[in-house]
Amino acid sequence: MTPIQETIINKKTTNTPIWLMRQAGRYLPEFREIRKLNLDFINLCLNENLSSKITLQPLERFKLDAAIIFSDILMLPYGLNQKVEFKKNFGPQLGSLNLETISKVEEIDFLEKLYPIYKAIKKVSKNNLLKNKNLIGFVGAPWTLLVYMINKKSPKKELIKNFFKDKFLINKTLIILEKFLKLHINHQIKNGATVIQIFDSWAGLLDEKDLPNYIYTPTLNLVDYVKSLNIPVICFPRGIKKYKNYCDIIKPDVINIDYDVDPISICKEINIPVQGGLDPRVLLTDTENLKKQSLKYLKIFKDHPYIFNLGHGVLPETNPTMVDYLVKTVKDY
Ligand code: CP3
Repeated sequence: MTPIQETIINKKTTNTPIWLMRQAGRYLPEFREIRKLNLDFINLCLNENLSSKITLQPLERFKLDAAIIFSDILMLPYGLNQKVEFKKNFGPQLGSLNLETISKVEEIDFLEKLYPIYKAIKKVSKNNLLKNKNLIGFVGAPWTLLVYMINKKSPKKELIKNFFKDKFLINKTLIILEKFLKLHINHQIKNGATVIQIFDSWAGLLDEKDLPNYIYTPTLNLVDYVKSLNIPVICFPRGIKKYKNYCDIIKPDVINIDYDVDPISICKEINIPVQGGLDPRVLLTDTENLKKQSLKYLKIFKDHPYIFNLGHGVLPETNPTMVDYLVKTVKDY
């Protein structure tokens, strides 16, 4: 069993495994080198030679316990023929959501469009660097994808006015998303993903009363689907206030926490394995503070199955030597 499987399945609490969200990305000079020559981000995700190479870059440098495939949650709306672009210093920009367009998409055409992602997963899974490690496949949760598809850009702090106006569009889109998310998950697993993480980055934008409709029901369907394929599923409902309620309802195999929640109460209240928490900004400070803050999480979760990770992705300004220091701190604990 891999260290991550030991934690998830056997509930082992020693030798804490570690991987980092956005571990492959702009803080690595070797990534920037490739990115510079590949200005179109979608095309880069669809270049299986480069995306598999980028996926492995952090594993060449650090003793991480998992690789996460270099792709994006917005490859799903892209596969549904909604326009998706990534603009420098702006982030994602989507075209209008057209129900007729996305309703017409056939499974076979979707798979053909995203085929290079599955090929990249297969390539990475066969690499020696993955020996005794996990390859993490991922999707955006239906709610977070709906946010991008209707809002057309990152919402930052709030949704566009009238976001919920067209209930017909929302409900139909959620049904289509469920079908294609399952397909996308299935093909990632078939090609070698051994864990699935579901990113619900905008879970924090919803009022409590809307959680059942937009988060609980659609996410539960996906979580049950991953479980039916005998693969562990990690959920990250970023910014959700009540992680305990979420876990009681969704029952993921692992819950990833953000940096705004108190890890001590999480450890007390939640009895499934926990992942993450450390504020990525700590990696922008100094080694002494990094050690102190990472030991804090290690100590709090010392008797709880815990996978070390951050409370959000590695920031582009991060110095790779700080990541190295963090991985060593966790491995030496
Ligand atoms: O290393 C990894 O974690 C794997 C790759 C990965 C990317 N995006 C690559 C990426 C993963 C897991 C994601 C998930 C993702 N994408 C999420 C969920 C996690 C989160 O951050 O909340 C979301 C919301 C997106 C959508 C997205 N993609 C945004 C908002 C942006 C722009 C912001 C930014 O960081 O630039 C992206 C672009 C993106 N996705 C980049 C990378 C490496 C940067 C692209 C570049 O090089 O310009």
